[in-house]
Amino acid sequence: MKTVLKALVLLVVVVAVLAVLVFTWIGSRGISARDDPSGLETVVARTMRRLAIPRGDRNRQNPVPATEEVLAAGRAHYADHCAACHANDGSGETQIGLGLYPKPPDMRLSATQSLTDGELFYLIENGVRLTGMPGWSTGTPEGEEASWHLVHFIRHLPEITQAELELMQEMNPRPPAEIRQQIEAERFLQGGDPPPSAPHAH
Ligand code: HEC
Repeated sequence: MKTVLKALVLLVVVVAVLAVLVFTWIGSRGISARDDPSGLETVVARTMRRLAIPRGDRNRQNPVPATEEVLAAGRAHYADHCAACHANDGSGETQIGLGLYPKPPDMRLSATQSLTDGELFYLIENGVRLTGMPGWSTGTPEGEEASWHLVHFIRHLPEITQAELELMQEMNPRPPAEIRQQIEAERFLQGGDPPPSAPHAH
């Protein structure tokens, strides 16, 4: 009985010391999401993520052929849903992207490009827990097809052109105030300044 008690006291002391150490460590690093994860943290997280994707999913190949239309659909979808975090060019350099922990990686680089089609698809459909990456699955065949389009578009990111980037800027979501301003500016340029409710004559 005495040894059990001793062991318990020891356990409590060890846990308390560990707790103090962890709190001191967190306190010294802060909890800012603006920091970059350490190299070790990144390697561990990416390895765990890879292990968590079932082999069958990892080995899937893109069933949708990479036509011009498919790439255009992927580009439009990406500009609307993904660019806020990942940036149109895939660099991840947006205000939201840079403020996340972990940050979205530069998807033009080999760390992302070396993932299989199946892995990219799985990550898009399911997201990544405890990160900013949402799961986009809608549970429909159309939703899956849209994710395969996105896989083609991500493969295309390393050679994206300036013309495409300009096209995407037009498709990026904008705040309502900005849209309203643009409509008013166009109205003014068309020679009139009618009240907002007046019908538009074309
Ligand atoms: C709210 C921010 C956010 C949005 C919106 C978002 N992502 Fe992500 N994404 C992330 C973050 C953060 C990561 C990094 C996750 C990690 O470290 O495991 C990520 C990771 C990924 C990855 C894995 C890349 C790699 O090498 O680790 C892919 C692929 C991806 N996103 C695709 C997309 C697509 C396609 C969309 C749009 C349908 C999208 N994301 C929308 C934040 C976002």
